[in-house]
Amino acid sequence: MIGVRRQTQIYLDGVSGRRPHVPLDAVRLETAAERCMRPEAFAYVAAGAGNERTLAANRAAFDRWRIVPRTLRDVERRDTSVELFGQRLPSPFLLAPVGVLELAHPEADCAVARAARDTGTAMVFSNQASKPMEGLARILEDSPHWFQLYWSRSDALVESLATRAERCGCRAIVVTLDTTMLGWRSRDLEGAYLPFLRGKGIAQYTSDPVFTQLLGEERVGPDEPQPQPRPTLAALRTLIELTRAYPDGFVRTLRSGRGRAAVKRFAEIYSRPSLTWETLAFLRERTSVPIVLKGILHADDAARAVEEGIDGVIVSNHGGRQVDGAIATLEALPAVVQAVGGRIPVLLDSGVRGGADVFKALALGARAVLIGRPYVYGLAIAGRAGVREVIENLAADFDLTMGLAGCSSASEIGPGALVPTP
Ligand SMILES: Cc1cc2nc3c(=O)[nH]c(=O)nc-3n(C[C@H](O)[C@H](O)[C@H](O)COP(=O)(O)O)c2cc1C
Repeated sequence: MIGVRRQTQIYLDGVSGRRPHVPLDAVRLETAAERCMRPEAFAYVAAGAGNERTLAANRAAFDRWRIVPRTLRDVERRDTSVELFGQRLPSPFLLAPVGVLELAHPEADCAVARAARDTGTAMVFSNQASKPMEGLARILEDSPHWFQLYWSRSDALVESLATRAERCGCRAIVVTLDTTMLGWRSRDLEGAYLPFLRGKGIAQYTSDPVFTQLLGEERVGPDEPQPQPRPTLAALRTLIELTRAYPDGFVRTLRSGRGRAAVKRFAEIYSRPSLTWETLAFLRERTSVPIVLKGILHADDAARAVEEGIDGVIVSNHGGRQVDGAIATLEALPAVVQAVGGRIPVLLDSGVRGGADVFKALALGARAVLIGRPYVYGLAIAGRAGVREVIENLAADFDLTMGLAGCSSASEIGPGALVPTP
């Protein structure tokens, strides 16, 4: 019943002259966030790969379906909750793993974790988070949280991250498959800006015992030319920035050189393009936590995931940030759902911007969706409160859309509720 409650609260606030601080419309939300962020930070969040065709295709795919509401079905009492890996989520969406949240707000992942706990929404910790997972788990306590893993070149680091996630009470480990290399991101390349090289978004590494041990060892990755930056003012500023980012105190880090070493080692090992299905067995043998594959777009890969004993898949193209021209996720969803045949849950992300989008994804067979950029924009505008508003608005919008479409529970939503746009 969150829909009516939230709506009433907003209208009543209006009577006293208060209007929502965080825009409800997705485009206005993005514009408002842009005003609060440094240009290179906003570009890093908003951008897609290449000419951003997949970024646009994700949205267009939602427009190709329309909802056909049914009437006279008693929707007074509604249940928007869904079950995932033994936990009930109040609404069918989670907060997607988003790295480098310090670009949006200094409290970064901690503010997001507080908003997630405030609302009972599941949060997926990013491998590229700005805050170590242990602190986030302390904020969230029993509130649902998962961990997202990038498969490093170091197996020992993979094992260490998975073990930490398990200890942190993460109820699933999401292995992201679509970022074994960074996509060709034109906006970031034009600004020559990659936050990791400034020590941002590597907190899961610098807080990890295996990673810190690797700092003192020989390089792990393949030999590639490592151009040395010229000693310019900008290079000096970067050195200060990454020294500050290392959790050892500024002076100690400057003396030890560990800030720079951490960035260098991270760049060498952060991901493994040689990853195959066989490699995944390594994780399966080391954790009893459900494993979810993120970045599945082909029915055959989804079927293989089931065969390999994987516990869930996320139909994702990384918000259009990896392969420009890749299939939109809503387009890919029906074939994946069919291949999986109800044996494991199928989730979807990329381009979800409102309650109707959530409804359409569920109608086409997703158990739940994940949202990325919208909550980052809420974070940029108003920190924890901003993220909470984005979550509450989406939950309310979904509840009302579901009820007005004639469904009283998320599980009732099926393909019969949609028609293709003529
Ligand atoms: C700034 C940014 C950073 C991201 N970082 C990660 C990450 O660390 N790990 C990951 O699996 N996905 C990451 N993603 C992808 C999201 O998890 C998600 O797939 C995507 O944002 C969903 O699309 P949406 O932003 O259109 O909702 C990132 C996305 C953005 C926008």
